[in-house]
Amino acid sequence: MSLVVLGSLKGAPGVSTLVATMAYKWPAHRRLAVIEADADGGVFAARFGLHPETPSLVSFAASSRHGIDPECFWESCQKLPEGPKVMVVPSGGRSTHRSLLQVDFSELEACLTGADLLVDAGRLRGEGPSQRLCEQAGLLIVVVRPIFEHLALLLHRAPEMIRHTNLGVVIVGEGPYPAEEIDEALSHSTGRRVSVLGTVAWDPRGAEGLKTETGRTRTLRRSTLARTVKPVTDLVVRLIPVSGKEIEMSAGGVVGAGRT
Ligand SMILES: Nc1ncnc2c1ncn2[C@@H]1O[C@H](COP(=O)(O)OP(=O)(O)OP(=O)(O)O)[C@@H](O)[C@H]1O
Ligand SMILES: [Mg+2]
Repeated sequence: MSLVVLGSLKGAPGVSTLVATMAYKWPAHRRLAVIEADADGGVFAARFGLHPETPSLVSFAASSRHGIDPECFWESCQKLPEGPKVMVVPSGGRSTHRSLLQVDFSELEACLTGADLLVDAGRLRGEGPSQRLCEQAGLLIVVVRPIFEHLALLLHRAPEMIRHTNLGVVIVGEGPYPAEEIDEALSHSTGRRVSVLGTVAWDPRGAEGLKTETGRTRTLRRSTLARTVKPVTDLVVRLIPVSGKEIEMSAGGVVGAGRT
């Protein structure tokens, strides 16, 4: 199971930035596709100088009406500059929403043997395309800022989310609530089934640098953002082989694979 889905519950904590940075930090020997599956519209095309529509998830959904063809999938991807493949969505509209409902991500994952799929699901709304993605994920990662509004919602939604999939949390930046405290609270409310996978830095320079051709290489090599995203990426990659099973989490970290 290699479907890793990232999303947010409130605000814009930095999901797309995290997904892009993780994609660049993904081990080079693994075959990765980033899929933008944000029903509110995509940002990857604009941020990375790609075409917003041709090809895109919308064109892929149209050509997959009668079943998914792996070759068609890879042809429907573009490429992040000097990075892995990415399937973009246009910047919004009804066709994006409809296409997201058309694509069966479980079927896609089964067809793409050996590939890792890193999905930016945008806001996780508890209904519609993002809910289906949450249910199909091998590992669902909720991205939060360590502030009350985000954490209250996380603690409220986590017990429901773990009914369908393995759930981890990535914190962006610092705030009034330390990671250990968040981990403890999650562990308590979910019977030790959800853990904080890591904290990535709030680094406006790094986040902006990632969007520009001239700043990208430097950002990926030297920014605090990239440096803090790397261990999270490595942990997620380590979890992929076990993410189809129930992953045992404990306060302070993931402890291994549990029962199937
Ligand atoms: N770690 C970070 N440090 C500093 N700024 C960041 C970080 N992550 C994201 N940002 C900035 O915050 C803004 C929103 O980021 P991003 O688009 O990644 O968030 P998102 O959660 O995907 O939002 P949306 O819900 O709109 O899709 C952008 O301007 C981005 O540059
Ligand atoms: Mg986003």
